[in-house]
Amino acid sequence: MAHFPSSFLDEVLSRTDIVELIAHHVQLKKSGNNFMGLCPFHHEKSPSFSVSADKQLFYCFGCGKGGGAFQFLMDHDGYSFPEVVEYLAEKAGLTVPQSAAPDADEQAKRKRALDLLDRVTEAFAKVLVAEEGLAGRDYFHRRKLPDDLIRKYRLGFAPPGYGFLARSMGRDERVLAQLEAVGLLFKGERGYADRFRGRVIFPIRDRRGQVVGFGGRILDQGEPKYLNSPETPFFHKSDLLYGFSEHRDEIRKRKLLLVVEGYMDVLALAAHDLPVGLAPLGTAIGERQVREILRLNDAPVFCFDGDRAGKQASWRALERMLPVLDAEHGPRFLYLPEGEDPDSLLQREGGAAFIQRIENEAKPVLKTWIDGLLNLAGRGPEGRARMAKKADAMLATMKDDYLRQAWRLEAENVTKLHLKDAVKPRKATPRRGIGGIAPDAKLREDFVAALVQNPARVQALPAGAEQFFLDDDGLNQLYTRVLHISADDKHPIQTLINAFPEDERIPRWATQAETTDDEFCGLLLAIEQENIKRRLRQGDLSTEEITRLKRREIEINRQRRG
Ligand code: GTP
Ligand code: MN
Repeated sequence: MAHFPSSFLDEVLSRTDIVELIAHHVQLKKSGNNFMGLCPFHHEKSPSFSVSADKQLFYCFGCGKGGGAFQFLMDHDGYSFPEVVEYLAEKAGLTVPQSAAPDADEQAKRKRALDLLDRVTEAFAKVLVAEEGLAGRDYFHRRKLPDDLIRKYRLGFAPPGYGFLARSMGRDERVLAQLEAVGLLFKGERGYADRFRGRVIFPIRDRRGQVVGFGGRILDQGEPKYLNSPETPFFHKSDLLYGFSEHRDEIRKRKLLLVVEGYMDVLALAAHDLPVGLAPLGTAIGERQVREILRLNDAPVFCFDGDRAGKQASWRALERMLPVLDAEHGPRFLYLPEGEDPDSLLQREGGAAFIQRIENEAKPVLKTWIDGLLNLAGRGPEGRARMAKKADAMLATMKDDYLRQAWRLEAENVTKLHLKDAVKPRKATPRRGIGGIAPDAKLREDFVAALVQNPARVQALPAGAEQFFLDDDGLNQLYTRVLHISADDKHPIQTLINAFPEDERIPRWATQAETTDDEFCGLLLAIEQENIKRRLRQGDLSTEEITRLKRREIEINRQRRG
């Protein structure tokens, strides 16, 4: 991953005004030194979301989310850290430094490719409204898509026969080679030929709204019904969701997200005043897509066909969801009547009835899970045993301890069997020379989290604290960096994120509820104690040192009890 020099990140931040940035998404009102508005990350009626122009930070007193400009865009728009940096740098008129850029050549190539894809989108859209596009127009009209939607989603038409792209994009050999590279042309016996022919075209945009590929549907009968652009370096089907850039804001505003199976379902929803649909690109939903979906909305509704394939697809989505799910999420699953999809239901019943159906019939994820298990395992004692086994395996993939316990109880109620407490081992931390004491990983993480949330606490650490994590590869680097945060660093969390852009713990800790001072004291004592035990076992200490450590240990014990 790109590693940006911190001077560059500072430069980007200094040219970015967080108030202006957030004001695009949240209506802000000046209040004292800060600006206040309705929090975009949780539902509220009175404003508890504050943005500080001095500190260039946002913080919600309601849900505890907070951070700097980079953090806001990552959380709000689902960008990755490098994407945010590039986006803000571009906005500020800065060029991403060479060392951080994937490769200047690569970047230029990518930009040329994206420009080309945009021009192709235009060409497909233009021909749709021209004489040659009559069949495509008819098709969309038959499917009840109004013209303004056709324009908004940049829908188009690829005329039948070979040679359309060469005709409209020019026959320049370099352009043709580029079109081949992005999967729009292939080399046949008689030169280049179009991939998409006689199909209506659905441009697929990335999170920034740039077209990165296409889906094309055959007009009448034929195989394959849908054809997509092939995978390219910037068209990864498993990372994209159709409708994301178009619907992100509405999904937030309406607090409603519907996951559907097809492009046409997404568009039919939009045509019925429900521009809140997202669809995978004809592939099963993957974990990254689920993550994105849950980040955008905490109670998305997965609408699947009621047939076997739909049930299978929803089970797969549920499995992908487990590692991401926590108690704040309430996804639901809606099975549609056999033979229907959202598009066909909407045409028949309209948007209000569809929403009503969700209200009446969508099942919470836990119920979907239990029902699915019952369905898979069958009846009788053997069925209950099979169900318990499968439940155990699935529970083991859940990250949220409490939610896992809650689900386990439900599964035990149904199977009437004891399930194993499948506590998932945390990421193993390599241990070096610590005389057999298993470090309590959670304790250590909580401790560092408390410091990350409030680096001023470094002042309260006892002498020798820099050795606390010497044996823990996973934490020592980060901890050492925290110890060295300057007292007048106005954006300590940003500094840490910049130093460890790939460490997902930092933004998580920074935005979760802050550790109280009492809790911090408890953690500190526990860590110190652990550290003393370890030192004592190392055995290469002077008598004085041993006495000192033992005395301190007794003191700590007293404090921890009191
Ligand atoms: P319509 O018949 O146009 O209403 O399509 P649909 O949206 O109802 O499609 P369907 O339920 O058949 O498929 C859902 C999604 O799966 C589509 O939007 C495509 O992304 C994908 N898909 C369907 N058929 C094919 C196919 O033959 N090839 C590929 N690659 N994807 C397909
Ligand atoms: Mn359909």
